[in-house]
Amino acid sequence: MICATFYESFSYNFNSSNGLGFMFLFFLKRAFDKNKSQKLCLTHETHYIINIMKKFTLISCILLGGCLSGVTAANKKQSIYKDAKAPIEDRINDLIGKMTLEEKILQMNQYTLGSNNNANNDGEEVKNLPSTVGSAIYFSEDAKLRNVAQKKAMEESRLGIPIIFGYDVIHGFRTVYPISLAQACSWNPGLVEEACTVAAQEAKMSGVDWTFSPMIDVARDGRWGRVAEGYGEDPYTNAVFCVASVKGYQGKDMSDSKRIAACLKHFIGYGASEAGRDYVYTEISNQTLWDTYIPPYEAGVKAGAATLMSSFNNISGTPGSANHYTLTEILKKRWAHDGFVVSDWGAIPQLIDQGSASSHKEAAKQAFSAGVEMDMMGHCYDKYMEELVKEGKISMAQIDDAVKRILRIKFRLGLFDNPYIKETTEKERFLLPQSLATAEQLAEETIVLLKNKGNILPLATANKPTIAVMGPMAKNRLDLLGSWFGHGQVENVSCISEALEAEFAGKANLIYSDGCDFDGEDTSKFSEALETAKKTDVILLCMGEKQNWTGENASRSIIELPAIQEQFIAEMKKVGKPIVLVLANGRPLGLSNVEPLCDAIVEMWQPGIPGGKPLAGVLSGRVNPSGKLSITFPRSTGQIPIYYNQRKSARPNSGKYQDIPSTPLYEFGYGLSYTTFNYGDIKLAKETIKRGEKLVVEIPVTNVGKRDGTEVIHWFITASFNTITRPVKELKYFEKQLIKAGDTCVFRFEIDPMRDLSFVNANGECFLENGEYYVKVKDKKIKFTLTD
Ligand code: BGC
Repeated sequence: MICATFYESFSYNFNSSNGLGFMFLFFLKRAFDKNKSQKLCLTHETHYIINIMKKFTLISCILLGGCLSGVTAANKKQSIYKDAKAPIEDRINDLIGKMTLEEKILQMNQYTLGSNNNANNDGEEVKNLPSTVGSAIYFSEDAKLRNVAQKKAMEESRLGIPIIFGYDVIHGFRTVYPISLAQACSWNPGLVEEACTVAAQEAKMSGVDWTFSPMIDVARDGRWGRVAEGYGEDPYTNAVFCVASVKGYQGKDMSDSKRIAACLKHFIGYGASEAGRDYVYTEISNQTLWDTYIPPYEAGVKAGAATLMSSFNNISGTPGSANHYTLTEILKKRWAHDGFVVSDWGAIPQLIDQGSASSHKEAAKQAFSAGVEMDMMGHCYDKYMEELVKEGKISMAQIDDAVKRILRIKFRLGLFDNPYIKETTEKERFLLPQSLATAEQLAEETIVLLKNKGNILPLATANKPTIAVMGPMAKNRLDLLGSWFGHGQVENVSCISEALEAEFAGKANLIYSDGCDFDGEDTSKFSEALETAKKTDVILLCMGEKQNWTGENASRSIIELPAIQEQFIAEMKKVGKPIVLVLANGRPLGLSNVEPLCDAIVEMWQPGIPGGKPLAGVLSGRVNPSGKLSITFPRSTGQIPIYYNQRKSARPNSGKYQDIPSTPLYEFGYGLSYTTFNYGDIKLAKETIKRGEKLVVEIPVTNVGKRDGTEVIHWFITASFNTITRPVKELKYFEKQLIKAGDTCVFRFEIDPMRDLSFVNANGECFLENGEYYVKVKDKKIKFTLTD
C-alpha cells in the first residue's frame, strides 16, 4: 500500500502541472552547461566540486521539498474519497478511479461472517474473508468480530474500503416484536416505525449496518410460510407499513450511529408462489404486477430505501433475479433508484435450477445485466465477472455503475468515516425499558378479538373464578417468538401462564393441564384435562402453531389447526363450561371447525418478547382490544385464494361453493372491541368534484359502550366502471383514534383524485377517468362523481 502510494505521488509529481519535475531537470541542465564552459584547474576543481555539491544540495532540497509537497498534494488529491467533507458523488468518483477491476468485482460480493458463534472464535473466520470484499452477512451479536473484520478491510486492503455488514433484522433484533403480519393488525404505522427504530439501534450497536427488511410481498395464500413476514394481503397496507419501517430503520440520516440501511424484499411477486409452496413459479400478469405487487415497492423506493433484494421466484417466465424489466426498466430507470440490489441468498446460481442459465458464468451475466449489483453467497460474480468483462460481455461502464451504487450506500451510512462500532455491554444496548415498552404496546395493539359471545371477555373476576389453562402454548416461550426472531432469547419471553399468574394474582385461581400437543395423535392427556376442566368456571385453551411452522420454506398444505388440537377443543366442549380459545400463530387459520365450539376467540399472533403479558391484559380487561385483521381468514383451506380486493365478477353472487358459503369466516379489517361503536353516515363535502380538486369525506363514530376504546376506520374506494376492470373495493386510507365512552369522533379522509381514484395499466401508466365513484366504510357507502 505504501509503495502504491509512493508510486502514485511520484508519478503525480513528475506528471502533474506543478512542474517540479521540470524545474529539477532545468536546474541540472544549467549546472551542467555552466560546468562545460568553465576552464578547470585544480584549485578551481575543488571549488567546482563544492559548487556542484552546493547546487546538488540545493537541487536535492528543492526536489525533496517538491516531492514532499507533491506527496501532500497527491495525497490530498487521491484522498478526496477519504475527505468526510467532500460531496459523496465526488468521493465515489475519486475512489472508483483508483480501483482495479478485481477490487471492483469484490465489492459486488457478499460473504458470511460469525455463523460460528463460539465465543473463542472472534476473528477466526476473518482470516478467510478477503480484505476487499464488499459485504458480509453478520451473524454475530456484538460489534467485536465486526471490528476485527473491518480493521482488516480498512488497514490491509490497498484503498481501505469498509465492509457493509447485513443481517435479517425482521421483527426486532434482541427485543423481538410481534411478527410483521401481526404488526399490520395494529394499524399503527407510527408505532411500527418506533419498533424499527429500536431494532436499528440494537442492530447497529451490535455491528450490523444493513437489514434485509422490510418484506413487503403482498401475500394472499395462508399456506405460504412467509406470509408471517409481510404486512398481509393488501398493497396499500404493505406500502404504508413499508414506509414506516424504512423510516424507522434509516431515520433522516443513515449515517447516524443508531441507524441502518433498509432492504425492500423480495423484488418482486414472491408472495404469489403457486399453492403457497416456497420458491416455486409465480404466474403474474403485468397488470397484476403493477396493480398488486408494485405499489409497496414504489412507496418504499420513494421513502428512500437504500437497497432492494431480488427475489427467488420465476415471474411468468423470467426469474426475479434475472429480470431486466423489473430491476432496470422499472427500478433504476423509471424510479431512478440510486442504491443497489442484492440477490437473495444463492439466487444467482439458482438461475441454473430455474432453467434460465446454463452455467454459473451465464447466471452471473444474466443477473448482473438485469440489474443485480451484489451477489449474496452465490460466488458467481467473484468467480466469473472478470472473464465476462475481458470477453466484452459486460462493460467497464456497467461495472462502474454497479460499484458506485454500492459505494454510495457505504458513504451514506458513514462507513468510510466511522467504520468501527463502539463495543458496549448487552445491558447497554438490548432490552432497554423503552424498547420493551414499545414491544408491549405494539403486541397489545396487534391482538384481534375474533369472537366474544355473551361478552364472556374480559373475564369476570368478582367471584374469584377458577380458570383452567390448557394447551401446548400455555407454558411455551419459544413459539411465541415467531419465525426469523433474530437474536431473541427464549428466556426473555414471558409465557402465557406466567403472565396470567401476575395479571390475575388474588383475582382468580389458575389451574393447569397440558391437554394436547401441537400435533401428533397422542390423546393420553385428554382425560386428566377433562377432570381438571370440570372443576373450573372457564376453560382457556392456548393453541396455535410452532414458530417454525411459518417462515422460509415452511409452508403448510392445510391451514386448519392440526387435528389433535381440534379434537381436544371438541373434547373440552363436553364439559359444558365457557371456552376461550387463544391462538398464537403466524398465518391466517381456517377456524370453521372450532369456531362454533368456542365462546371467545383471541388471535394473539406471535408477539415476540412481550409473550403472554399483552394477552393477559386483554383477558383481564386492562387492555381493550383494537387490532383488526390485515389478512382474510378463510372458512377453510379450500377457499384460498380469498382476499377482500378481488376483481369484480360476472354475477353478483358468483363464486359460490355448494358446501360452504363463499364469504370468508373473518374478513380483512375485522376485529371486535369490548365497547360498541356506532357509525353515522358518511358525509361528502360535495357530490361532484373536478379532477384537480380534493374531496373531504367524514364519518362520525360514537362509542356507545361503557368503556373507552380505540377504533380503526378503513376507507375504501370503488368505481362503477373503468376501462380496465378494478377490484370490488380498494383500501386508500386508514385512521385509528381513541374514543372515550359516550364520545363521538369524526374520522376524515381527503380524497385526492390522482392518488386515490387513478389506476395503472399493464405497463404502469396511470389513468384517471371521469365517472361515478363510491367511498365505503364498513357497510356504509356513498356515491360521488368526478368530472372535467
Ligand atoms: C431469504 C431472505 C433472507 C436471506 C438472507 C434468504 O434465504 O429468502 O429473505 O434475507 O436468505 O438470510
